[in-house]
Amino acid sequence: MTKKSELISEGKAKSLYTTSNTNELRMVYRDDTSAFDGKKKEALLGKGEVNNRFNAFIMNYLEERGVETHFIRDLSETESIVKKLDMLPVECVVRNIATGSLCRRLGVEQGIKFDEPLFEFFLKNDDLGDPLINDNHITAFGWGTEDEINFMKQKTKEINVHLSELFDKNNLILVDYKVEYGRYEEKLLLGDEFTPDGCRIWDKTTGESLDKDRFRKDLGDVVESYQIVAHKLGIDI
Ligand code: C5P
Repeated sequence: MTKKSELISEGKAKSLYTTSNTNELRMVYRDDTSAFDGKKKEALLGKGEVNNRFNAFIMNYLEERGVETHFIRDLSETESIVKKLDMLPVECVVRNIATGSLCRRLGVEQGIKFDEPLFEFFLKNDDLGDPLINDNHITAFGWGTEDEINFMKQKTKEINVHLSELFDKNNLILVDYKVEYGRYEEKLLLGDEFTPDGCRIWDKTTGESLDKDRFRKDLGDVVESYQIVAHKLGIDI
């Protein structure tokens, strides 16, 4: 545990605390699980630990492949130390297969596999239901610069190449995911988390969902499914 530590923000599944180093924060993964902009909530025993370990593994995996992240080290089963970022208020989503909000929004068939991954920006705003936005909204409202937009698109697709390959060789399909970036010393770093709370993962053989869709759709065995994915990827939990 760090010394005197103050809560600076409480998200739906994680809390952020100050540390004795002003450039670093302590990220605590809680068992809380939420969906539909916080309208559905439950605490799922053990989820905080799986997600903290999962995220540490993925962040290290990406760092080793040249993606700079905010992750510094894990601190305990449910806590990690990260660089303090100035987060951009946008979510970057990459989709390899059509499902979820894309199909609801455009009325397109589920399961279409894209030749080129599809990229979307959303505004982080629960009250508005995280609306879809375009590059022009981001520059017009000063949420990010053109360079930052290009960086986020390129990095998020680069992440897709690395992680799709990782999941694929472990008999899993990375269907889609959301990532976020923040500013740190004139650069953008990958922030927030990469866990089954923020991506869709299907078993390659059975097609079964092993991610937060289990919670959204009341399929049960949410944490158990996250653990199955973690074990397949060789994550020590
Ligand atoms: O809901 P939608 O189909 O747009 O989600 C696309 C991907 O982004 C999914 O993997 C979902 O878990 C993730 N996502 C997220 N947080 C949000 C919205 C989407 O992690 N606020």
